[in-house]
Amino acid sequence: MNIVEKITKLKKEKNAIILVHNYQRPEIQNIADFLGDSLELAREAAKTDARMIVFCGVRFMAETAKILSPEKKVLLPRKEAGCPMADMITAEDLRILKEKYLGAKVVSYVNTNADVKAESDICCTSANAIEIVKKIKTKKIIFTPDKNLAAYCQRFTDKEIIPWNGYCYVHEKIREEEVRLAKEKFPDALLLVHPECNPAVIDLADEVLSTSGMLNFAKKSDKKRFLIGTEEGLIYRLKKENPGKEFYTAGTAKMCRNMKLTTLNDVYLSLKEERYAIELPEGIIKSARKTLKAMLRNIHR
Ligand code: 13P
Ligand code: SF4
Repeated sequence: MNIVEKITKLKKEKNAIILVHNYQRPEIQNIADFLGDSLELAREAAKTDARMIVFCGVRFMAETAKILSPEKKVLLPRKEAGCPMADMITAEDLRILKEKYLGAKVVSYVNTNADVKAESDICCTSANAIEIVKKIKTKKIIFTPDKNLAAYCQRFTDKEIIPWNGYCYVHEKIREEEVRLAKEKFPDALLLVHPECNPAVIDLADEVLSTSGMLNFAKKSDKKRFLIGTEEGLIYRLKKENPGKEFYTAGTAKMCRNMKLTTLNDVYLSLKEERYAIELPEGIIKSARKTLKAMLRNIHR
């Protein structure tokens, strides 16, 4: 039996599903029961009937699955697969900010640790951030941790957004100059960028979308060529699902090392030894669930 067959067998025996983020290695994407962006994966985790979820992504995603389905066993095959942006703000940092801006509502990007979600009013993902921000009634909105996503949302509202100074080191590496050069090289291509990119890159874009937003857009578009401003893992899926179209990274390929940690062998061992199970304090699960449910209730996509 090869490793993929072993994984399939164990998955059936243990009544498990494999959820995979769009940035994972191609061979991991190929074994997914469900492949998607952060919002789609959160939705899938909330509704699955499986007993066990193997999460191929980073820790905040597996934590989100656990918060939404606390009765299930949620496994992160590589325990060190974290998100550096999520680690840029602590629950204590947020408590201090809330005291400074009393009365402001807190929108936290899903890329946060569970205790930060527990201190927030509502979550958002890159697919729904603008919609969520528009729904907040207070004049001031604290937005954590991504300063770029916060600045992007600010373009669509008159409310004052108070950003935390976090950022994604992968998207931050996408430079305006290299994107301009890529556009010159492929003048007929549409530029799709992720809202974690810096404002100068966003200004050059034809569309600003989440990872699955890019997939949906490229599928429907009658254009043939696309420049993609996000982590390079998405290009594999874009090409696979759109064989007649061309996709190029906007500048050099940028890779998230945490997203690329998980291998087929890690998934096999994760299922076999039921490791590494996400454990969170009950109080954190309860408060963070309110924040996530507020998001899931408030959006249509
Ligand atoms: P989405 O897939 O939700 O667009 O998120 C991108 C990301 O950086 C996740 O870590
Ligand atoms: Fe975090 Fe950026 Fe990696 Fe996503 S791509 S997991 S935001 S570091």
